[in-house]
Amino acid sequence: MKPQQILTELIGCRIKSPIYSNEGHLLLKQGTVIDTAVLSKLERHSISPLDLLNKLTKDIPVKGVLDDQEMEKSLKVVKKVFENVLNNHSKGIGATIPDEHLKLVEEVINFLIESLTGTGDLLYTVSDMLENEPYTYKHSINVSILSVLTAKALKYGTEEIKNIALGAFLHDIGKMLVDQSLITKPDLLTSAEKELVNQHPKLGYELIKNIDKLPYTAKQIVLLHHEKLDGSGYPYSIKGIEIPEYVRIVTICDMYDAMTTNRVYRNKMPIYKVLELLMHDAVYKLDRKVYRYMIENICVFPPGSGVVLSDGRIGVVAFYRTANPTRPHVRVIDLETDITDIKVETVNLERKRTLFVADTWDVHEFRKGFKATPGFGELPHRSNDTVEQKH
Ligand SMILES: [Fe+2]
Repeated sequence: MKPQQILTELIGCRIKSPIYSNEGHLLLKQGTVIDTAVLSKLERHSISPLDLLNKLTKDIPVKGVLDDQEMEKSLKVVKKVFENVLNNHSKGIGATIPDEHLKLVEEVINFLIESLTGTGDLLYTVSDMLENEPYTYKHSINVSILSVLTAKALKYGTEEIKNIALGAFLHDIGKMLVDQSLITKPDLLTSAEKELVNQHPKLGYELIKNIDKLPYTAKQIVLLHHEKLDGSGYPYSIKGIEIPEYVRIVTICDMYDAMTTNRVYRNKMPIYKVLELLMHDAVYKLDRKVYRYMIENICVFPPGSGVVLSDGRIGVVAFYRTANPTRPHVRVIDLETDITDIKVETVNLERKRTLFVADTWDVHEFRKGFKATPGFGELPHRSNDTVEQKH
């Protein structure tokens, strides 16, 4: 279902009071039935469908597991560490991670673990606020957060969780040593280019293998995070028990974040679809137990995200309880609404058991589409249904 269909919510409604233009001319009489022509007329007079969206999303707190300030602070550290490696490498100086940078990384990891282990009822959500930050940096933090939550659910001890988080934080550092035009290339890579990008686990490992302060666990994660249980991964195509469980944790969290994030070459996919695709891979390629524990920590319908109910109504998630995350409370447009004073109502799916979430739509893209092309211009399409993981 396309986001534009949010407009069809209004079609068939009757205008309750006459609408006048700014100049005072009567635009639409009381009782007029709304159809697409009426909507176009309203739009020409600056009554935008964006108003509907604003009504739907008003006062819904949209927030990741870390707040944006905390996320920004952590990102600064990733940037510093990764860019130092990149700069030294491009100048031909042997790249490394200096002690003072390692200390900063450790501080971020300690902070993440502290914020994520305090509450028992935290579900993983990511905010769109820092979307303009480079993907690799955000990805490092997101994968660290999700790996900590998963390792915690799997009952790992604090020291081991810390080591896993360090590995997750650094897992893609080898990408700094690959030609950057390939990392940011908007098209799919050729097989020769893919081979170069696929060197990043080995390059990352070479970079950190002699750093005594880094634990063995973290080094193995950097080297093996693209290996798959059926031997279809890289760089060594090792199988099954040759891949430690702590590596498998980061592998799944890495894939999850890559698929649920917008990339230069494709749009993000809805969370429920990503979980389905990963479940499929969990049969032979991924660890089923790790998958099961990871999904326990994921909020499938986070507040502020767009959903379509099984009766066709389009809405936005207003609230969920951790005990029942797939039955959120959804804000929809009241069908009895007055176009000049749009009303919304909240459907509590915990109580309305006959209804369920049938589909999702991307609120963020919808809003961006309006900014880019005011009015009823071409809107962005919703998330693709294909997984094209480039690297
Ligand atoms: Fe990677």
